[in-house]
Amino acid sequence: MSRPAVLAALEGGAWRSGAELAGRLGITRAAVWKQVARLRAQGYEIEAAPGRGYRLLASPDRLLPAVIERHAGRPWPGFRVVHREVVDSTNRLAADLARRGAPEGTAVVAEAQTAGRGRLGRSWASPRARNLYLSLVLRPPLAPSAAPQIALAAALSVVRAIAAEGAGGAEIKWPNDVLLGGAKVAGILAELEAEAERLRFVVLGVGVNLNAREADFPAELRGRATSLLETTGRRVDRARFTGRLLGFLARDYGVFLRGGFAALRPEYERFHGLRGRRVEVRGGVAAAGKVRGVDDDGALLLEGPAGLVRILAGEVTLSGAAGAWPCA
Ligand code: BTN
Repeated sequence: MSRPAVLAALEGGAWRSGAELAGRLGITRAAVWKQVARLRAQGYEIEAAPGRGYRLLASPDRLLPAVIERHAGRPWPGFRVVHREVVDSTNRLAADLARRGAPEGTAVVAEAQTAGRGRLGRSWASPRARNLYLSLVLRPPLAPSAAPQIALAAALSVVRAIAAEGAGGAEIKWPNDVLLGGAKVAGILAELEAEAERLRFVVLGVGVNLNAREADFPAELRGRATSLLETTGRRVDRARFTGRLLGFLARDYGVFLRGGFAALRPEYERFHGLRGRRVEVRGGVAAAGKVRGVDDDGALLLEGPAGLVRILAGEVTLSGAAGAWPCA
């Protein structure tokens, strides 16, 4: 369901007269009033004054495009926010839009997902109006092998956005999970379409648990997944968070395009929670050892019995702590 036209016209908070709204939207003033009444019933605070018209004072906790855009600045020339109340997966919708020509910087957000996708074929818990479900269309002029590095860069952007909320201590768990207090707070799923040697587009899917409560997570994730609200005790303005995150994503992606992952590596390492830890890797090549860091391509460097090995893909768990750091 898309936003009512009157709401879109009132976003930004300026006064709009009934006549102006009616003219702009091609409806009667009575229809404007009806839409205002419906919005109020949904929790929007709309002031009405004779001679001035209407203005939006406060919105319920919604991922309003105008608010997101205000906090994002102008991250991409083609930047646009597509908002849905419910969607199966924002990654699916963003990929459809990309196939139909949506430019780089098209951002899809939803209040809820019915089939949110996680890494390794898992699902992503997506309760309504609690968290952020974001998918961004990118068109990097690069080979398909670059896509995983974009996801690493995005993990860094998520850590920055969390720090901007005043929540310290977020860590990256290679390749691109973000943890707070040892539990997963965000995950990233980059999906791509490519022809031979060139990426056609990447859909960068980012899920961040913002205002979810423990009870909002499925039973099997309790204690292993967390949210900013659970960790800090403070509710997050989801639209502001989303806007700021898009600003960080644009900046880190720009650095990546100019200098490769090598340009972001020192910052990534600063927040990399696995450094110096003993881990086991499964999924790709099975390996175990002590994490030395990541290299300029974003591969995990593991010191094992046979020396230093580069891990390109796989799932990492702390040795002797099976399940402690899961993929939520
Ligand atoms: C992971 O398993 O860690 C990755 C989770 C990615 C979830 C996000 S939510 C927004 C976007 N849409 C999806 O269906 N998945 C990603």
